[in-house]
Amino acid sequence: MASQFILLALLVASAYHAFASDPGMLQDFCVADKMSQVLVNGFACKDPKAVTAEDFFFSGLHMAGNTSNKQGSAVTGVNVAQIAGLNTLGVSLTRVDYAPFGQNPPHIHPRATEILTVLEGSLYVGFVTSNPDNKLFAKVLNKGDVFVFPQGSVHFQFNYGTNSAVALAALSSMNPGVITVANAVFGSNPNISGKILAKAFQVDKLVVDRIQAQF
Ligand SMILES: *[C@@H]1O[C@H](CO)[C@@H](O)[C@H](O)[C@H]1NC(C)=O
Ligand SMILES: *[C@@H]1O[C@H](CO)[C@@H](O)[C@H](O)[C@H]1NC(C)=O
Repeated sequence: MASQFILLALLVASAYHAFASDPGMLQDFCVADKMSQVLVNGFACKDPKAVTAEDFFFSGLHMAGNTSNKQGSAVTGVNVAQIAGLNTLGVSLTRVDYAPFGQNPPHIHPRATEILTVLEGSLYVGFVTSNPDNKLFAKVLNKGDVFVFPQGSVHFQFNYGTNSAVALAALSSMNPGVITVANAVFGSNPNISGKILAKAFQVDKLVVDRIQAQF
């Protein structure tokens, strides 16, 4: 009896493992009905009879984002927020523009692996593995090069060129999510106690106060 229970527990655990990405489809599509009051994992389905080609369409990814900001980059996401038809399909797209020496700062996609290609310019990109190794895998990419950032890894892109750069990335979730490390740690609302951050980063609390004041 005990061994059967353990077997069942293992089966359940492995099933959860298989569903670590967006869940599999049970129908052709489930266009997001964003007006629905029903709360489910994702969005409730719009009546299939009311679905049109527009539900699977987005226009505008040819346009550069505005990189006039402190990081010198702009992310234009095309996920379920822009294309309701992506609901439950497990993919999305992102355009990233980089000003000269601009960067997409260290961040995490909690729900997606990312595959990125450089359309214009050159980027220094990388990701860091989880504890205890925290190994950095980094590389310079030129036009046409492709790089992968595994799901949940801290990763970044930096344009070290004097021209602007453009990248296109596909992600394995309809709603990948973004956690920008600096913003989450130093710019949370309400803030994480400076004492905690001073100890975590092994610096004086005044240093933490200064960083927190930037957010
Ligand atoms: C780009 O963003 C900056 C800063 O927010 C703003 O001042 C500027 O007008 C924007 N440029 C365009 C073309 O929208
Ligand atoms: C952080 O929050 C504390 C209260 O929890 C407040 O006293 C402090 O001024 C805040 N610091 C910053 C930099 O906002």
